[in-house]
Amino acid sequence: MAGKRWPYLAVQLTTACTRACPDCCYHVPTLPPEHFSWEYFELAAERVRAAVDGVGWLFASGGEPTLHPDFARVVREFKRMFNADQLCVATNGARLLEYLPLLHENVDKLHLTMFDGNDEIRDAVVATGYQGILYARPAEHLPMVGRPGYIYPCDTDRKYTVTLWRGRVYRCCMGPGLPSAASIPVEELTYNGVMVLQRGCDTCPYAKPARRRDYTVEG
Ligand SMILES: C[S@@+](CC[C@H](N)C(=O)[O-])C[C@H]1O[C@@H](n2cnc3c(N)ncnc32)[C@H](O)[C@@H]1O
Ligand code: SF4
Ligand code: SF4
Repeated sequence: MAGKRWPYLAVQLTTACTRACPDCCYHVPTLPPEHFSWEYFELAAERVRAAVDGVGWLFASGGEPTLHPDFARVVREFKRMFNADQLCVATNGARLLEYLPLLHENVDKLHLTMFDGNDEIRDAVVATGYQGILYARPAEHLPMVGRPGYIYPCDTDRKYTVTLWRGRVYRCCMGPGLPSAASIPVEELTYNGVMVLQRGCDTCPYAKPARRRDYTVEG
């Protein structure tokens, strides 16, 4: 479809994880561990290629993506499959060092969440001369509760992330964990079908206090 792109697309590989963060935005600790199948990834990629001309940043995430048995294949093939410009892996650090040469070759950005104890992992990655961009963000998990008077930045920033999670598509990276968020089955993925989805921003941890005027709501 001409001229249609998604700037950010997140594909969650698994519900399995090595951690059980109480405020995990996808409620991973409450779910049975399940690695999603390669057939599901192929179907999703086919639907995405039919819906948009291309994707900017593709995120491989989870759960903990490095636990997926096909993680190496994901890293090698996802960018081409989903017609994406760049690939980012979002990880809590599990199995990261064992995959480092592969990541070095194929991943444009590593999003290492800085849980306690991950300083050593980050330092080890840096010490290998890793050429990709190492992006380490502290794990500041905010509760998924209503925040009256706050505003929600994604529309004003034009930064929505389309997310594929457990066979369904959301128009927001937090969508799966938000009680009022809407979704459609991946089989029904179309550009327009995704862009009209509701997003449940009323309980999003990324909400900003309304007094911050750098997030002025338009219209
Ligand atoms: C869902 S995790 C999946 C990847 C990997 N397991 C990890 O933790 O990095 C993706 C990102 O969401 C962040 N996250 C999870 N719950 C959150 C919350 N309640 N508020 C803000 N960020 C959250 C994590 O810190 C992580 O950086
Ligand atoms: S490590 Fe990531 S996926 Fe696992 S429970 Fe924590 S935030 Fe959720
Ligand atoms: S729920 Fe949060 S992350 Fe999702 S679109 Fe709304 S503000 Fe953005």
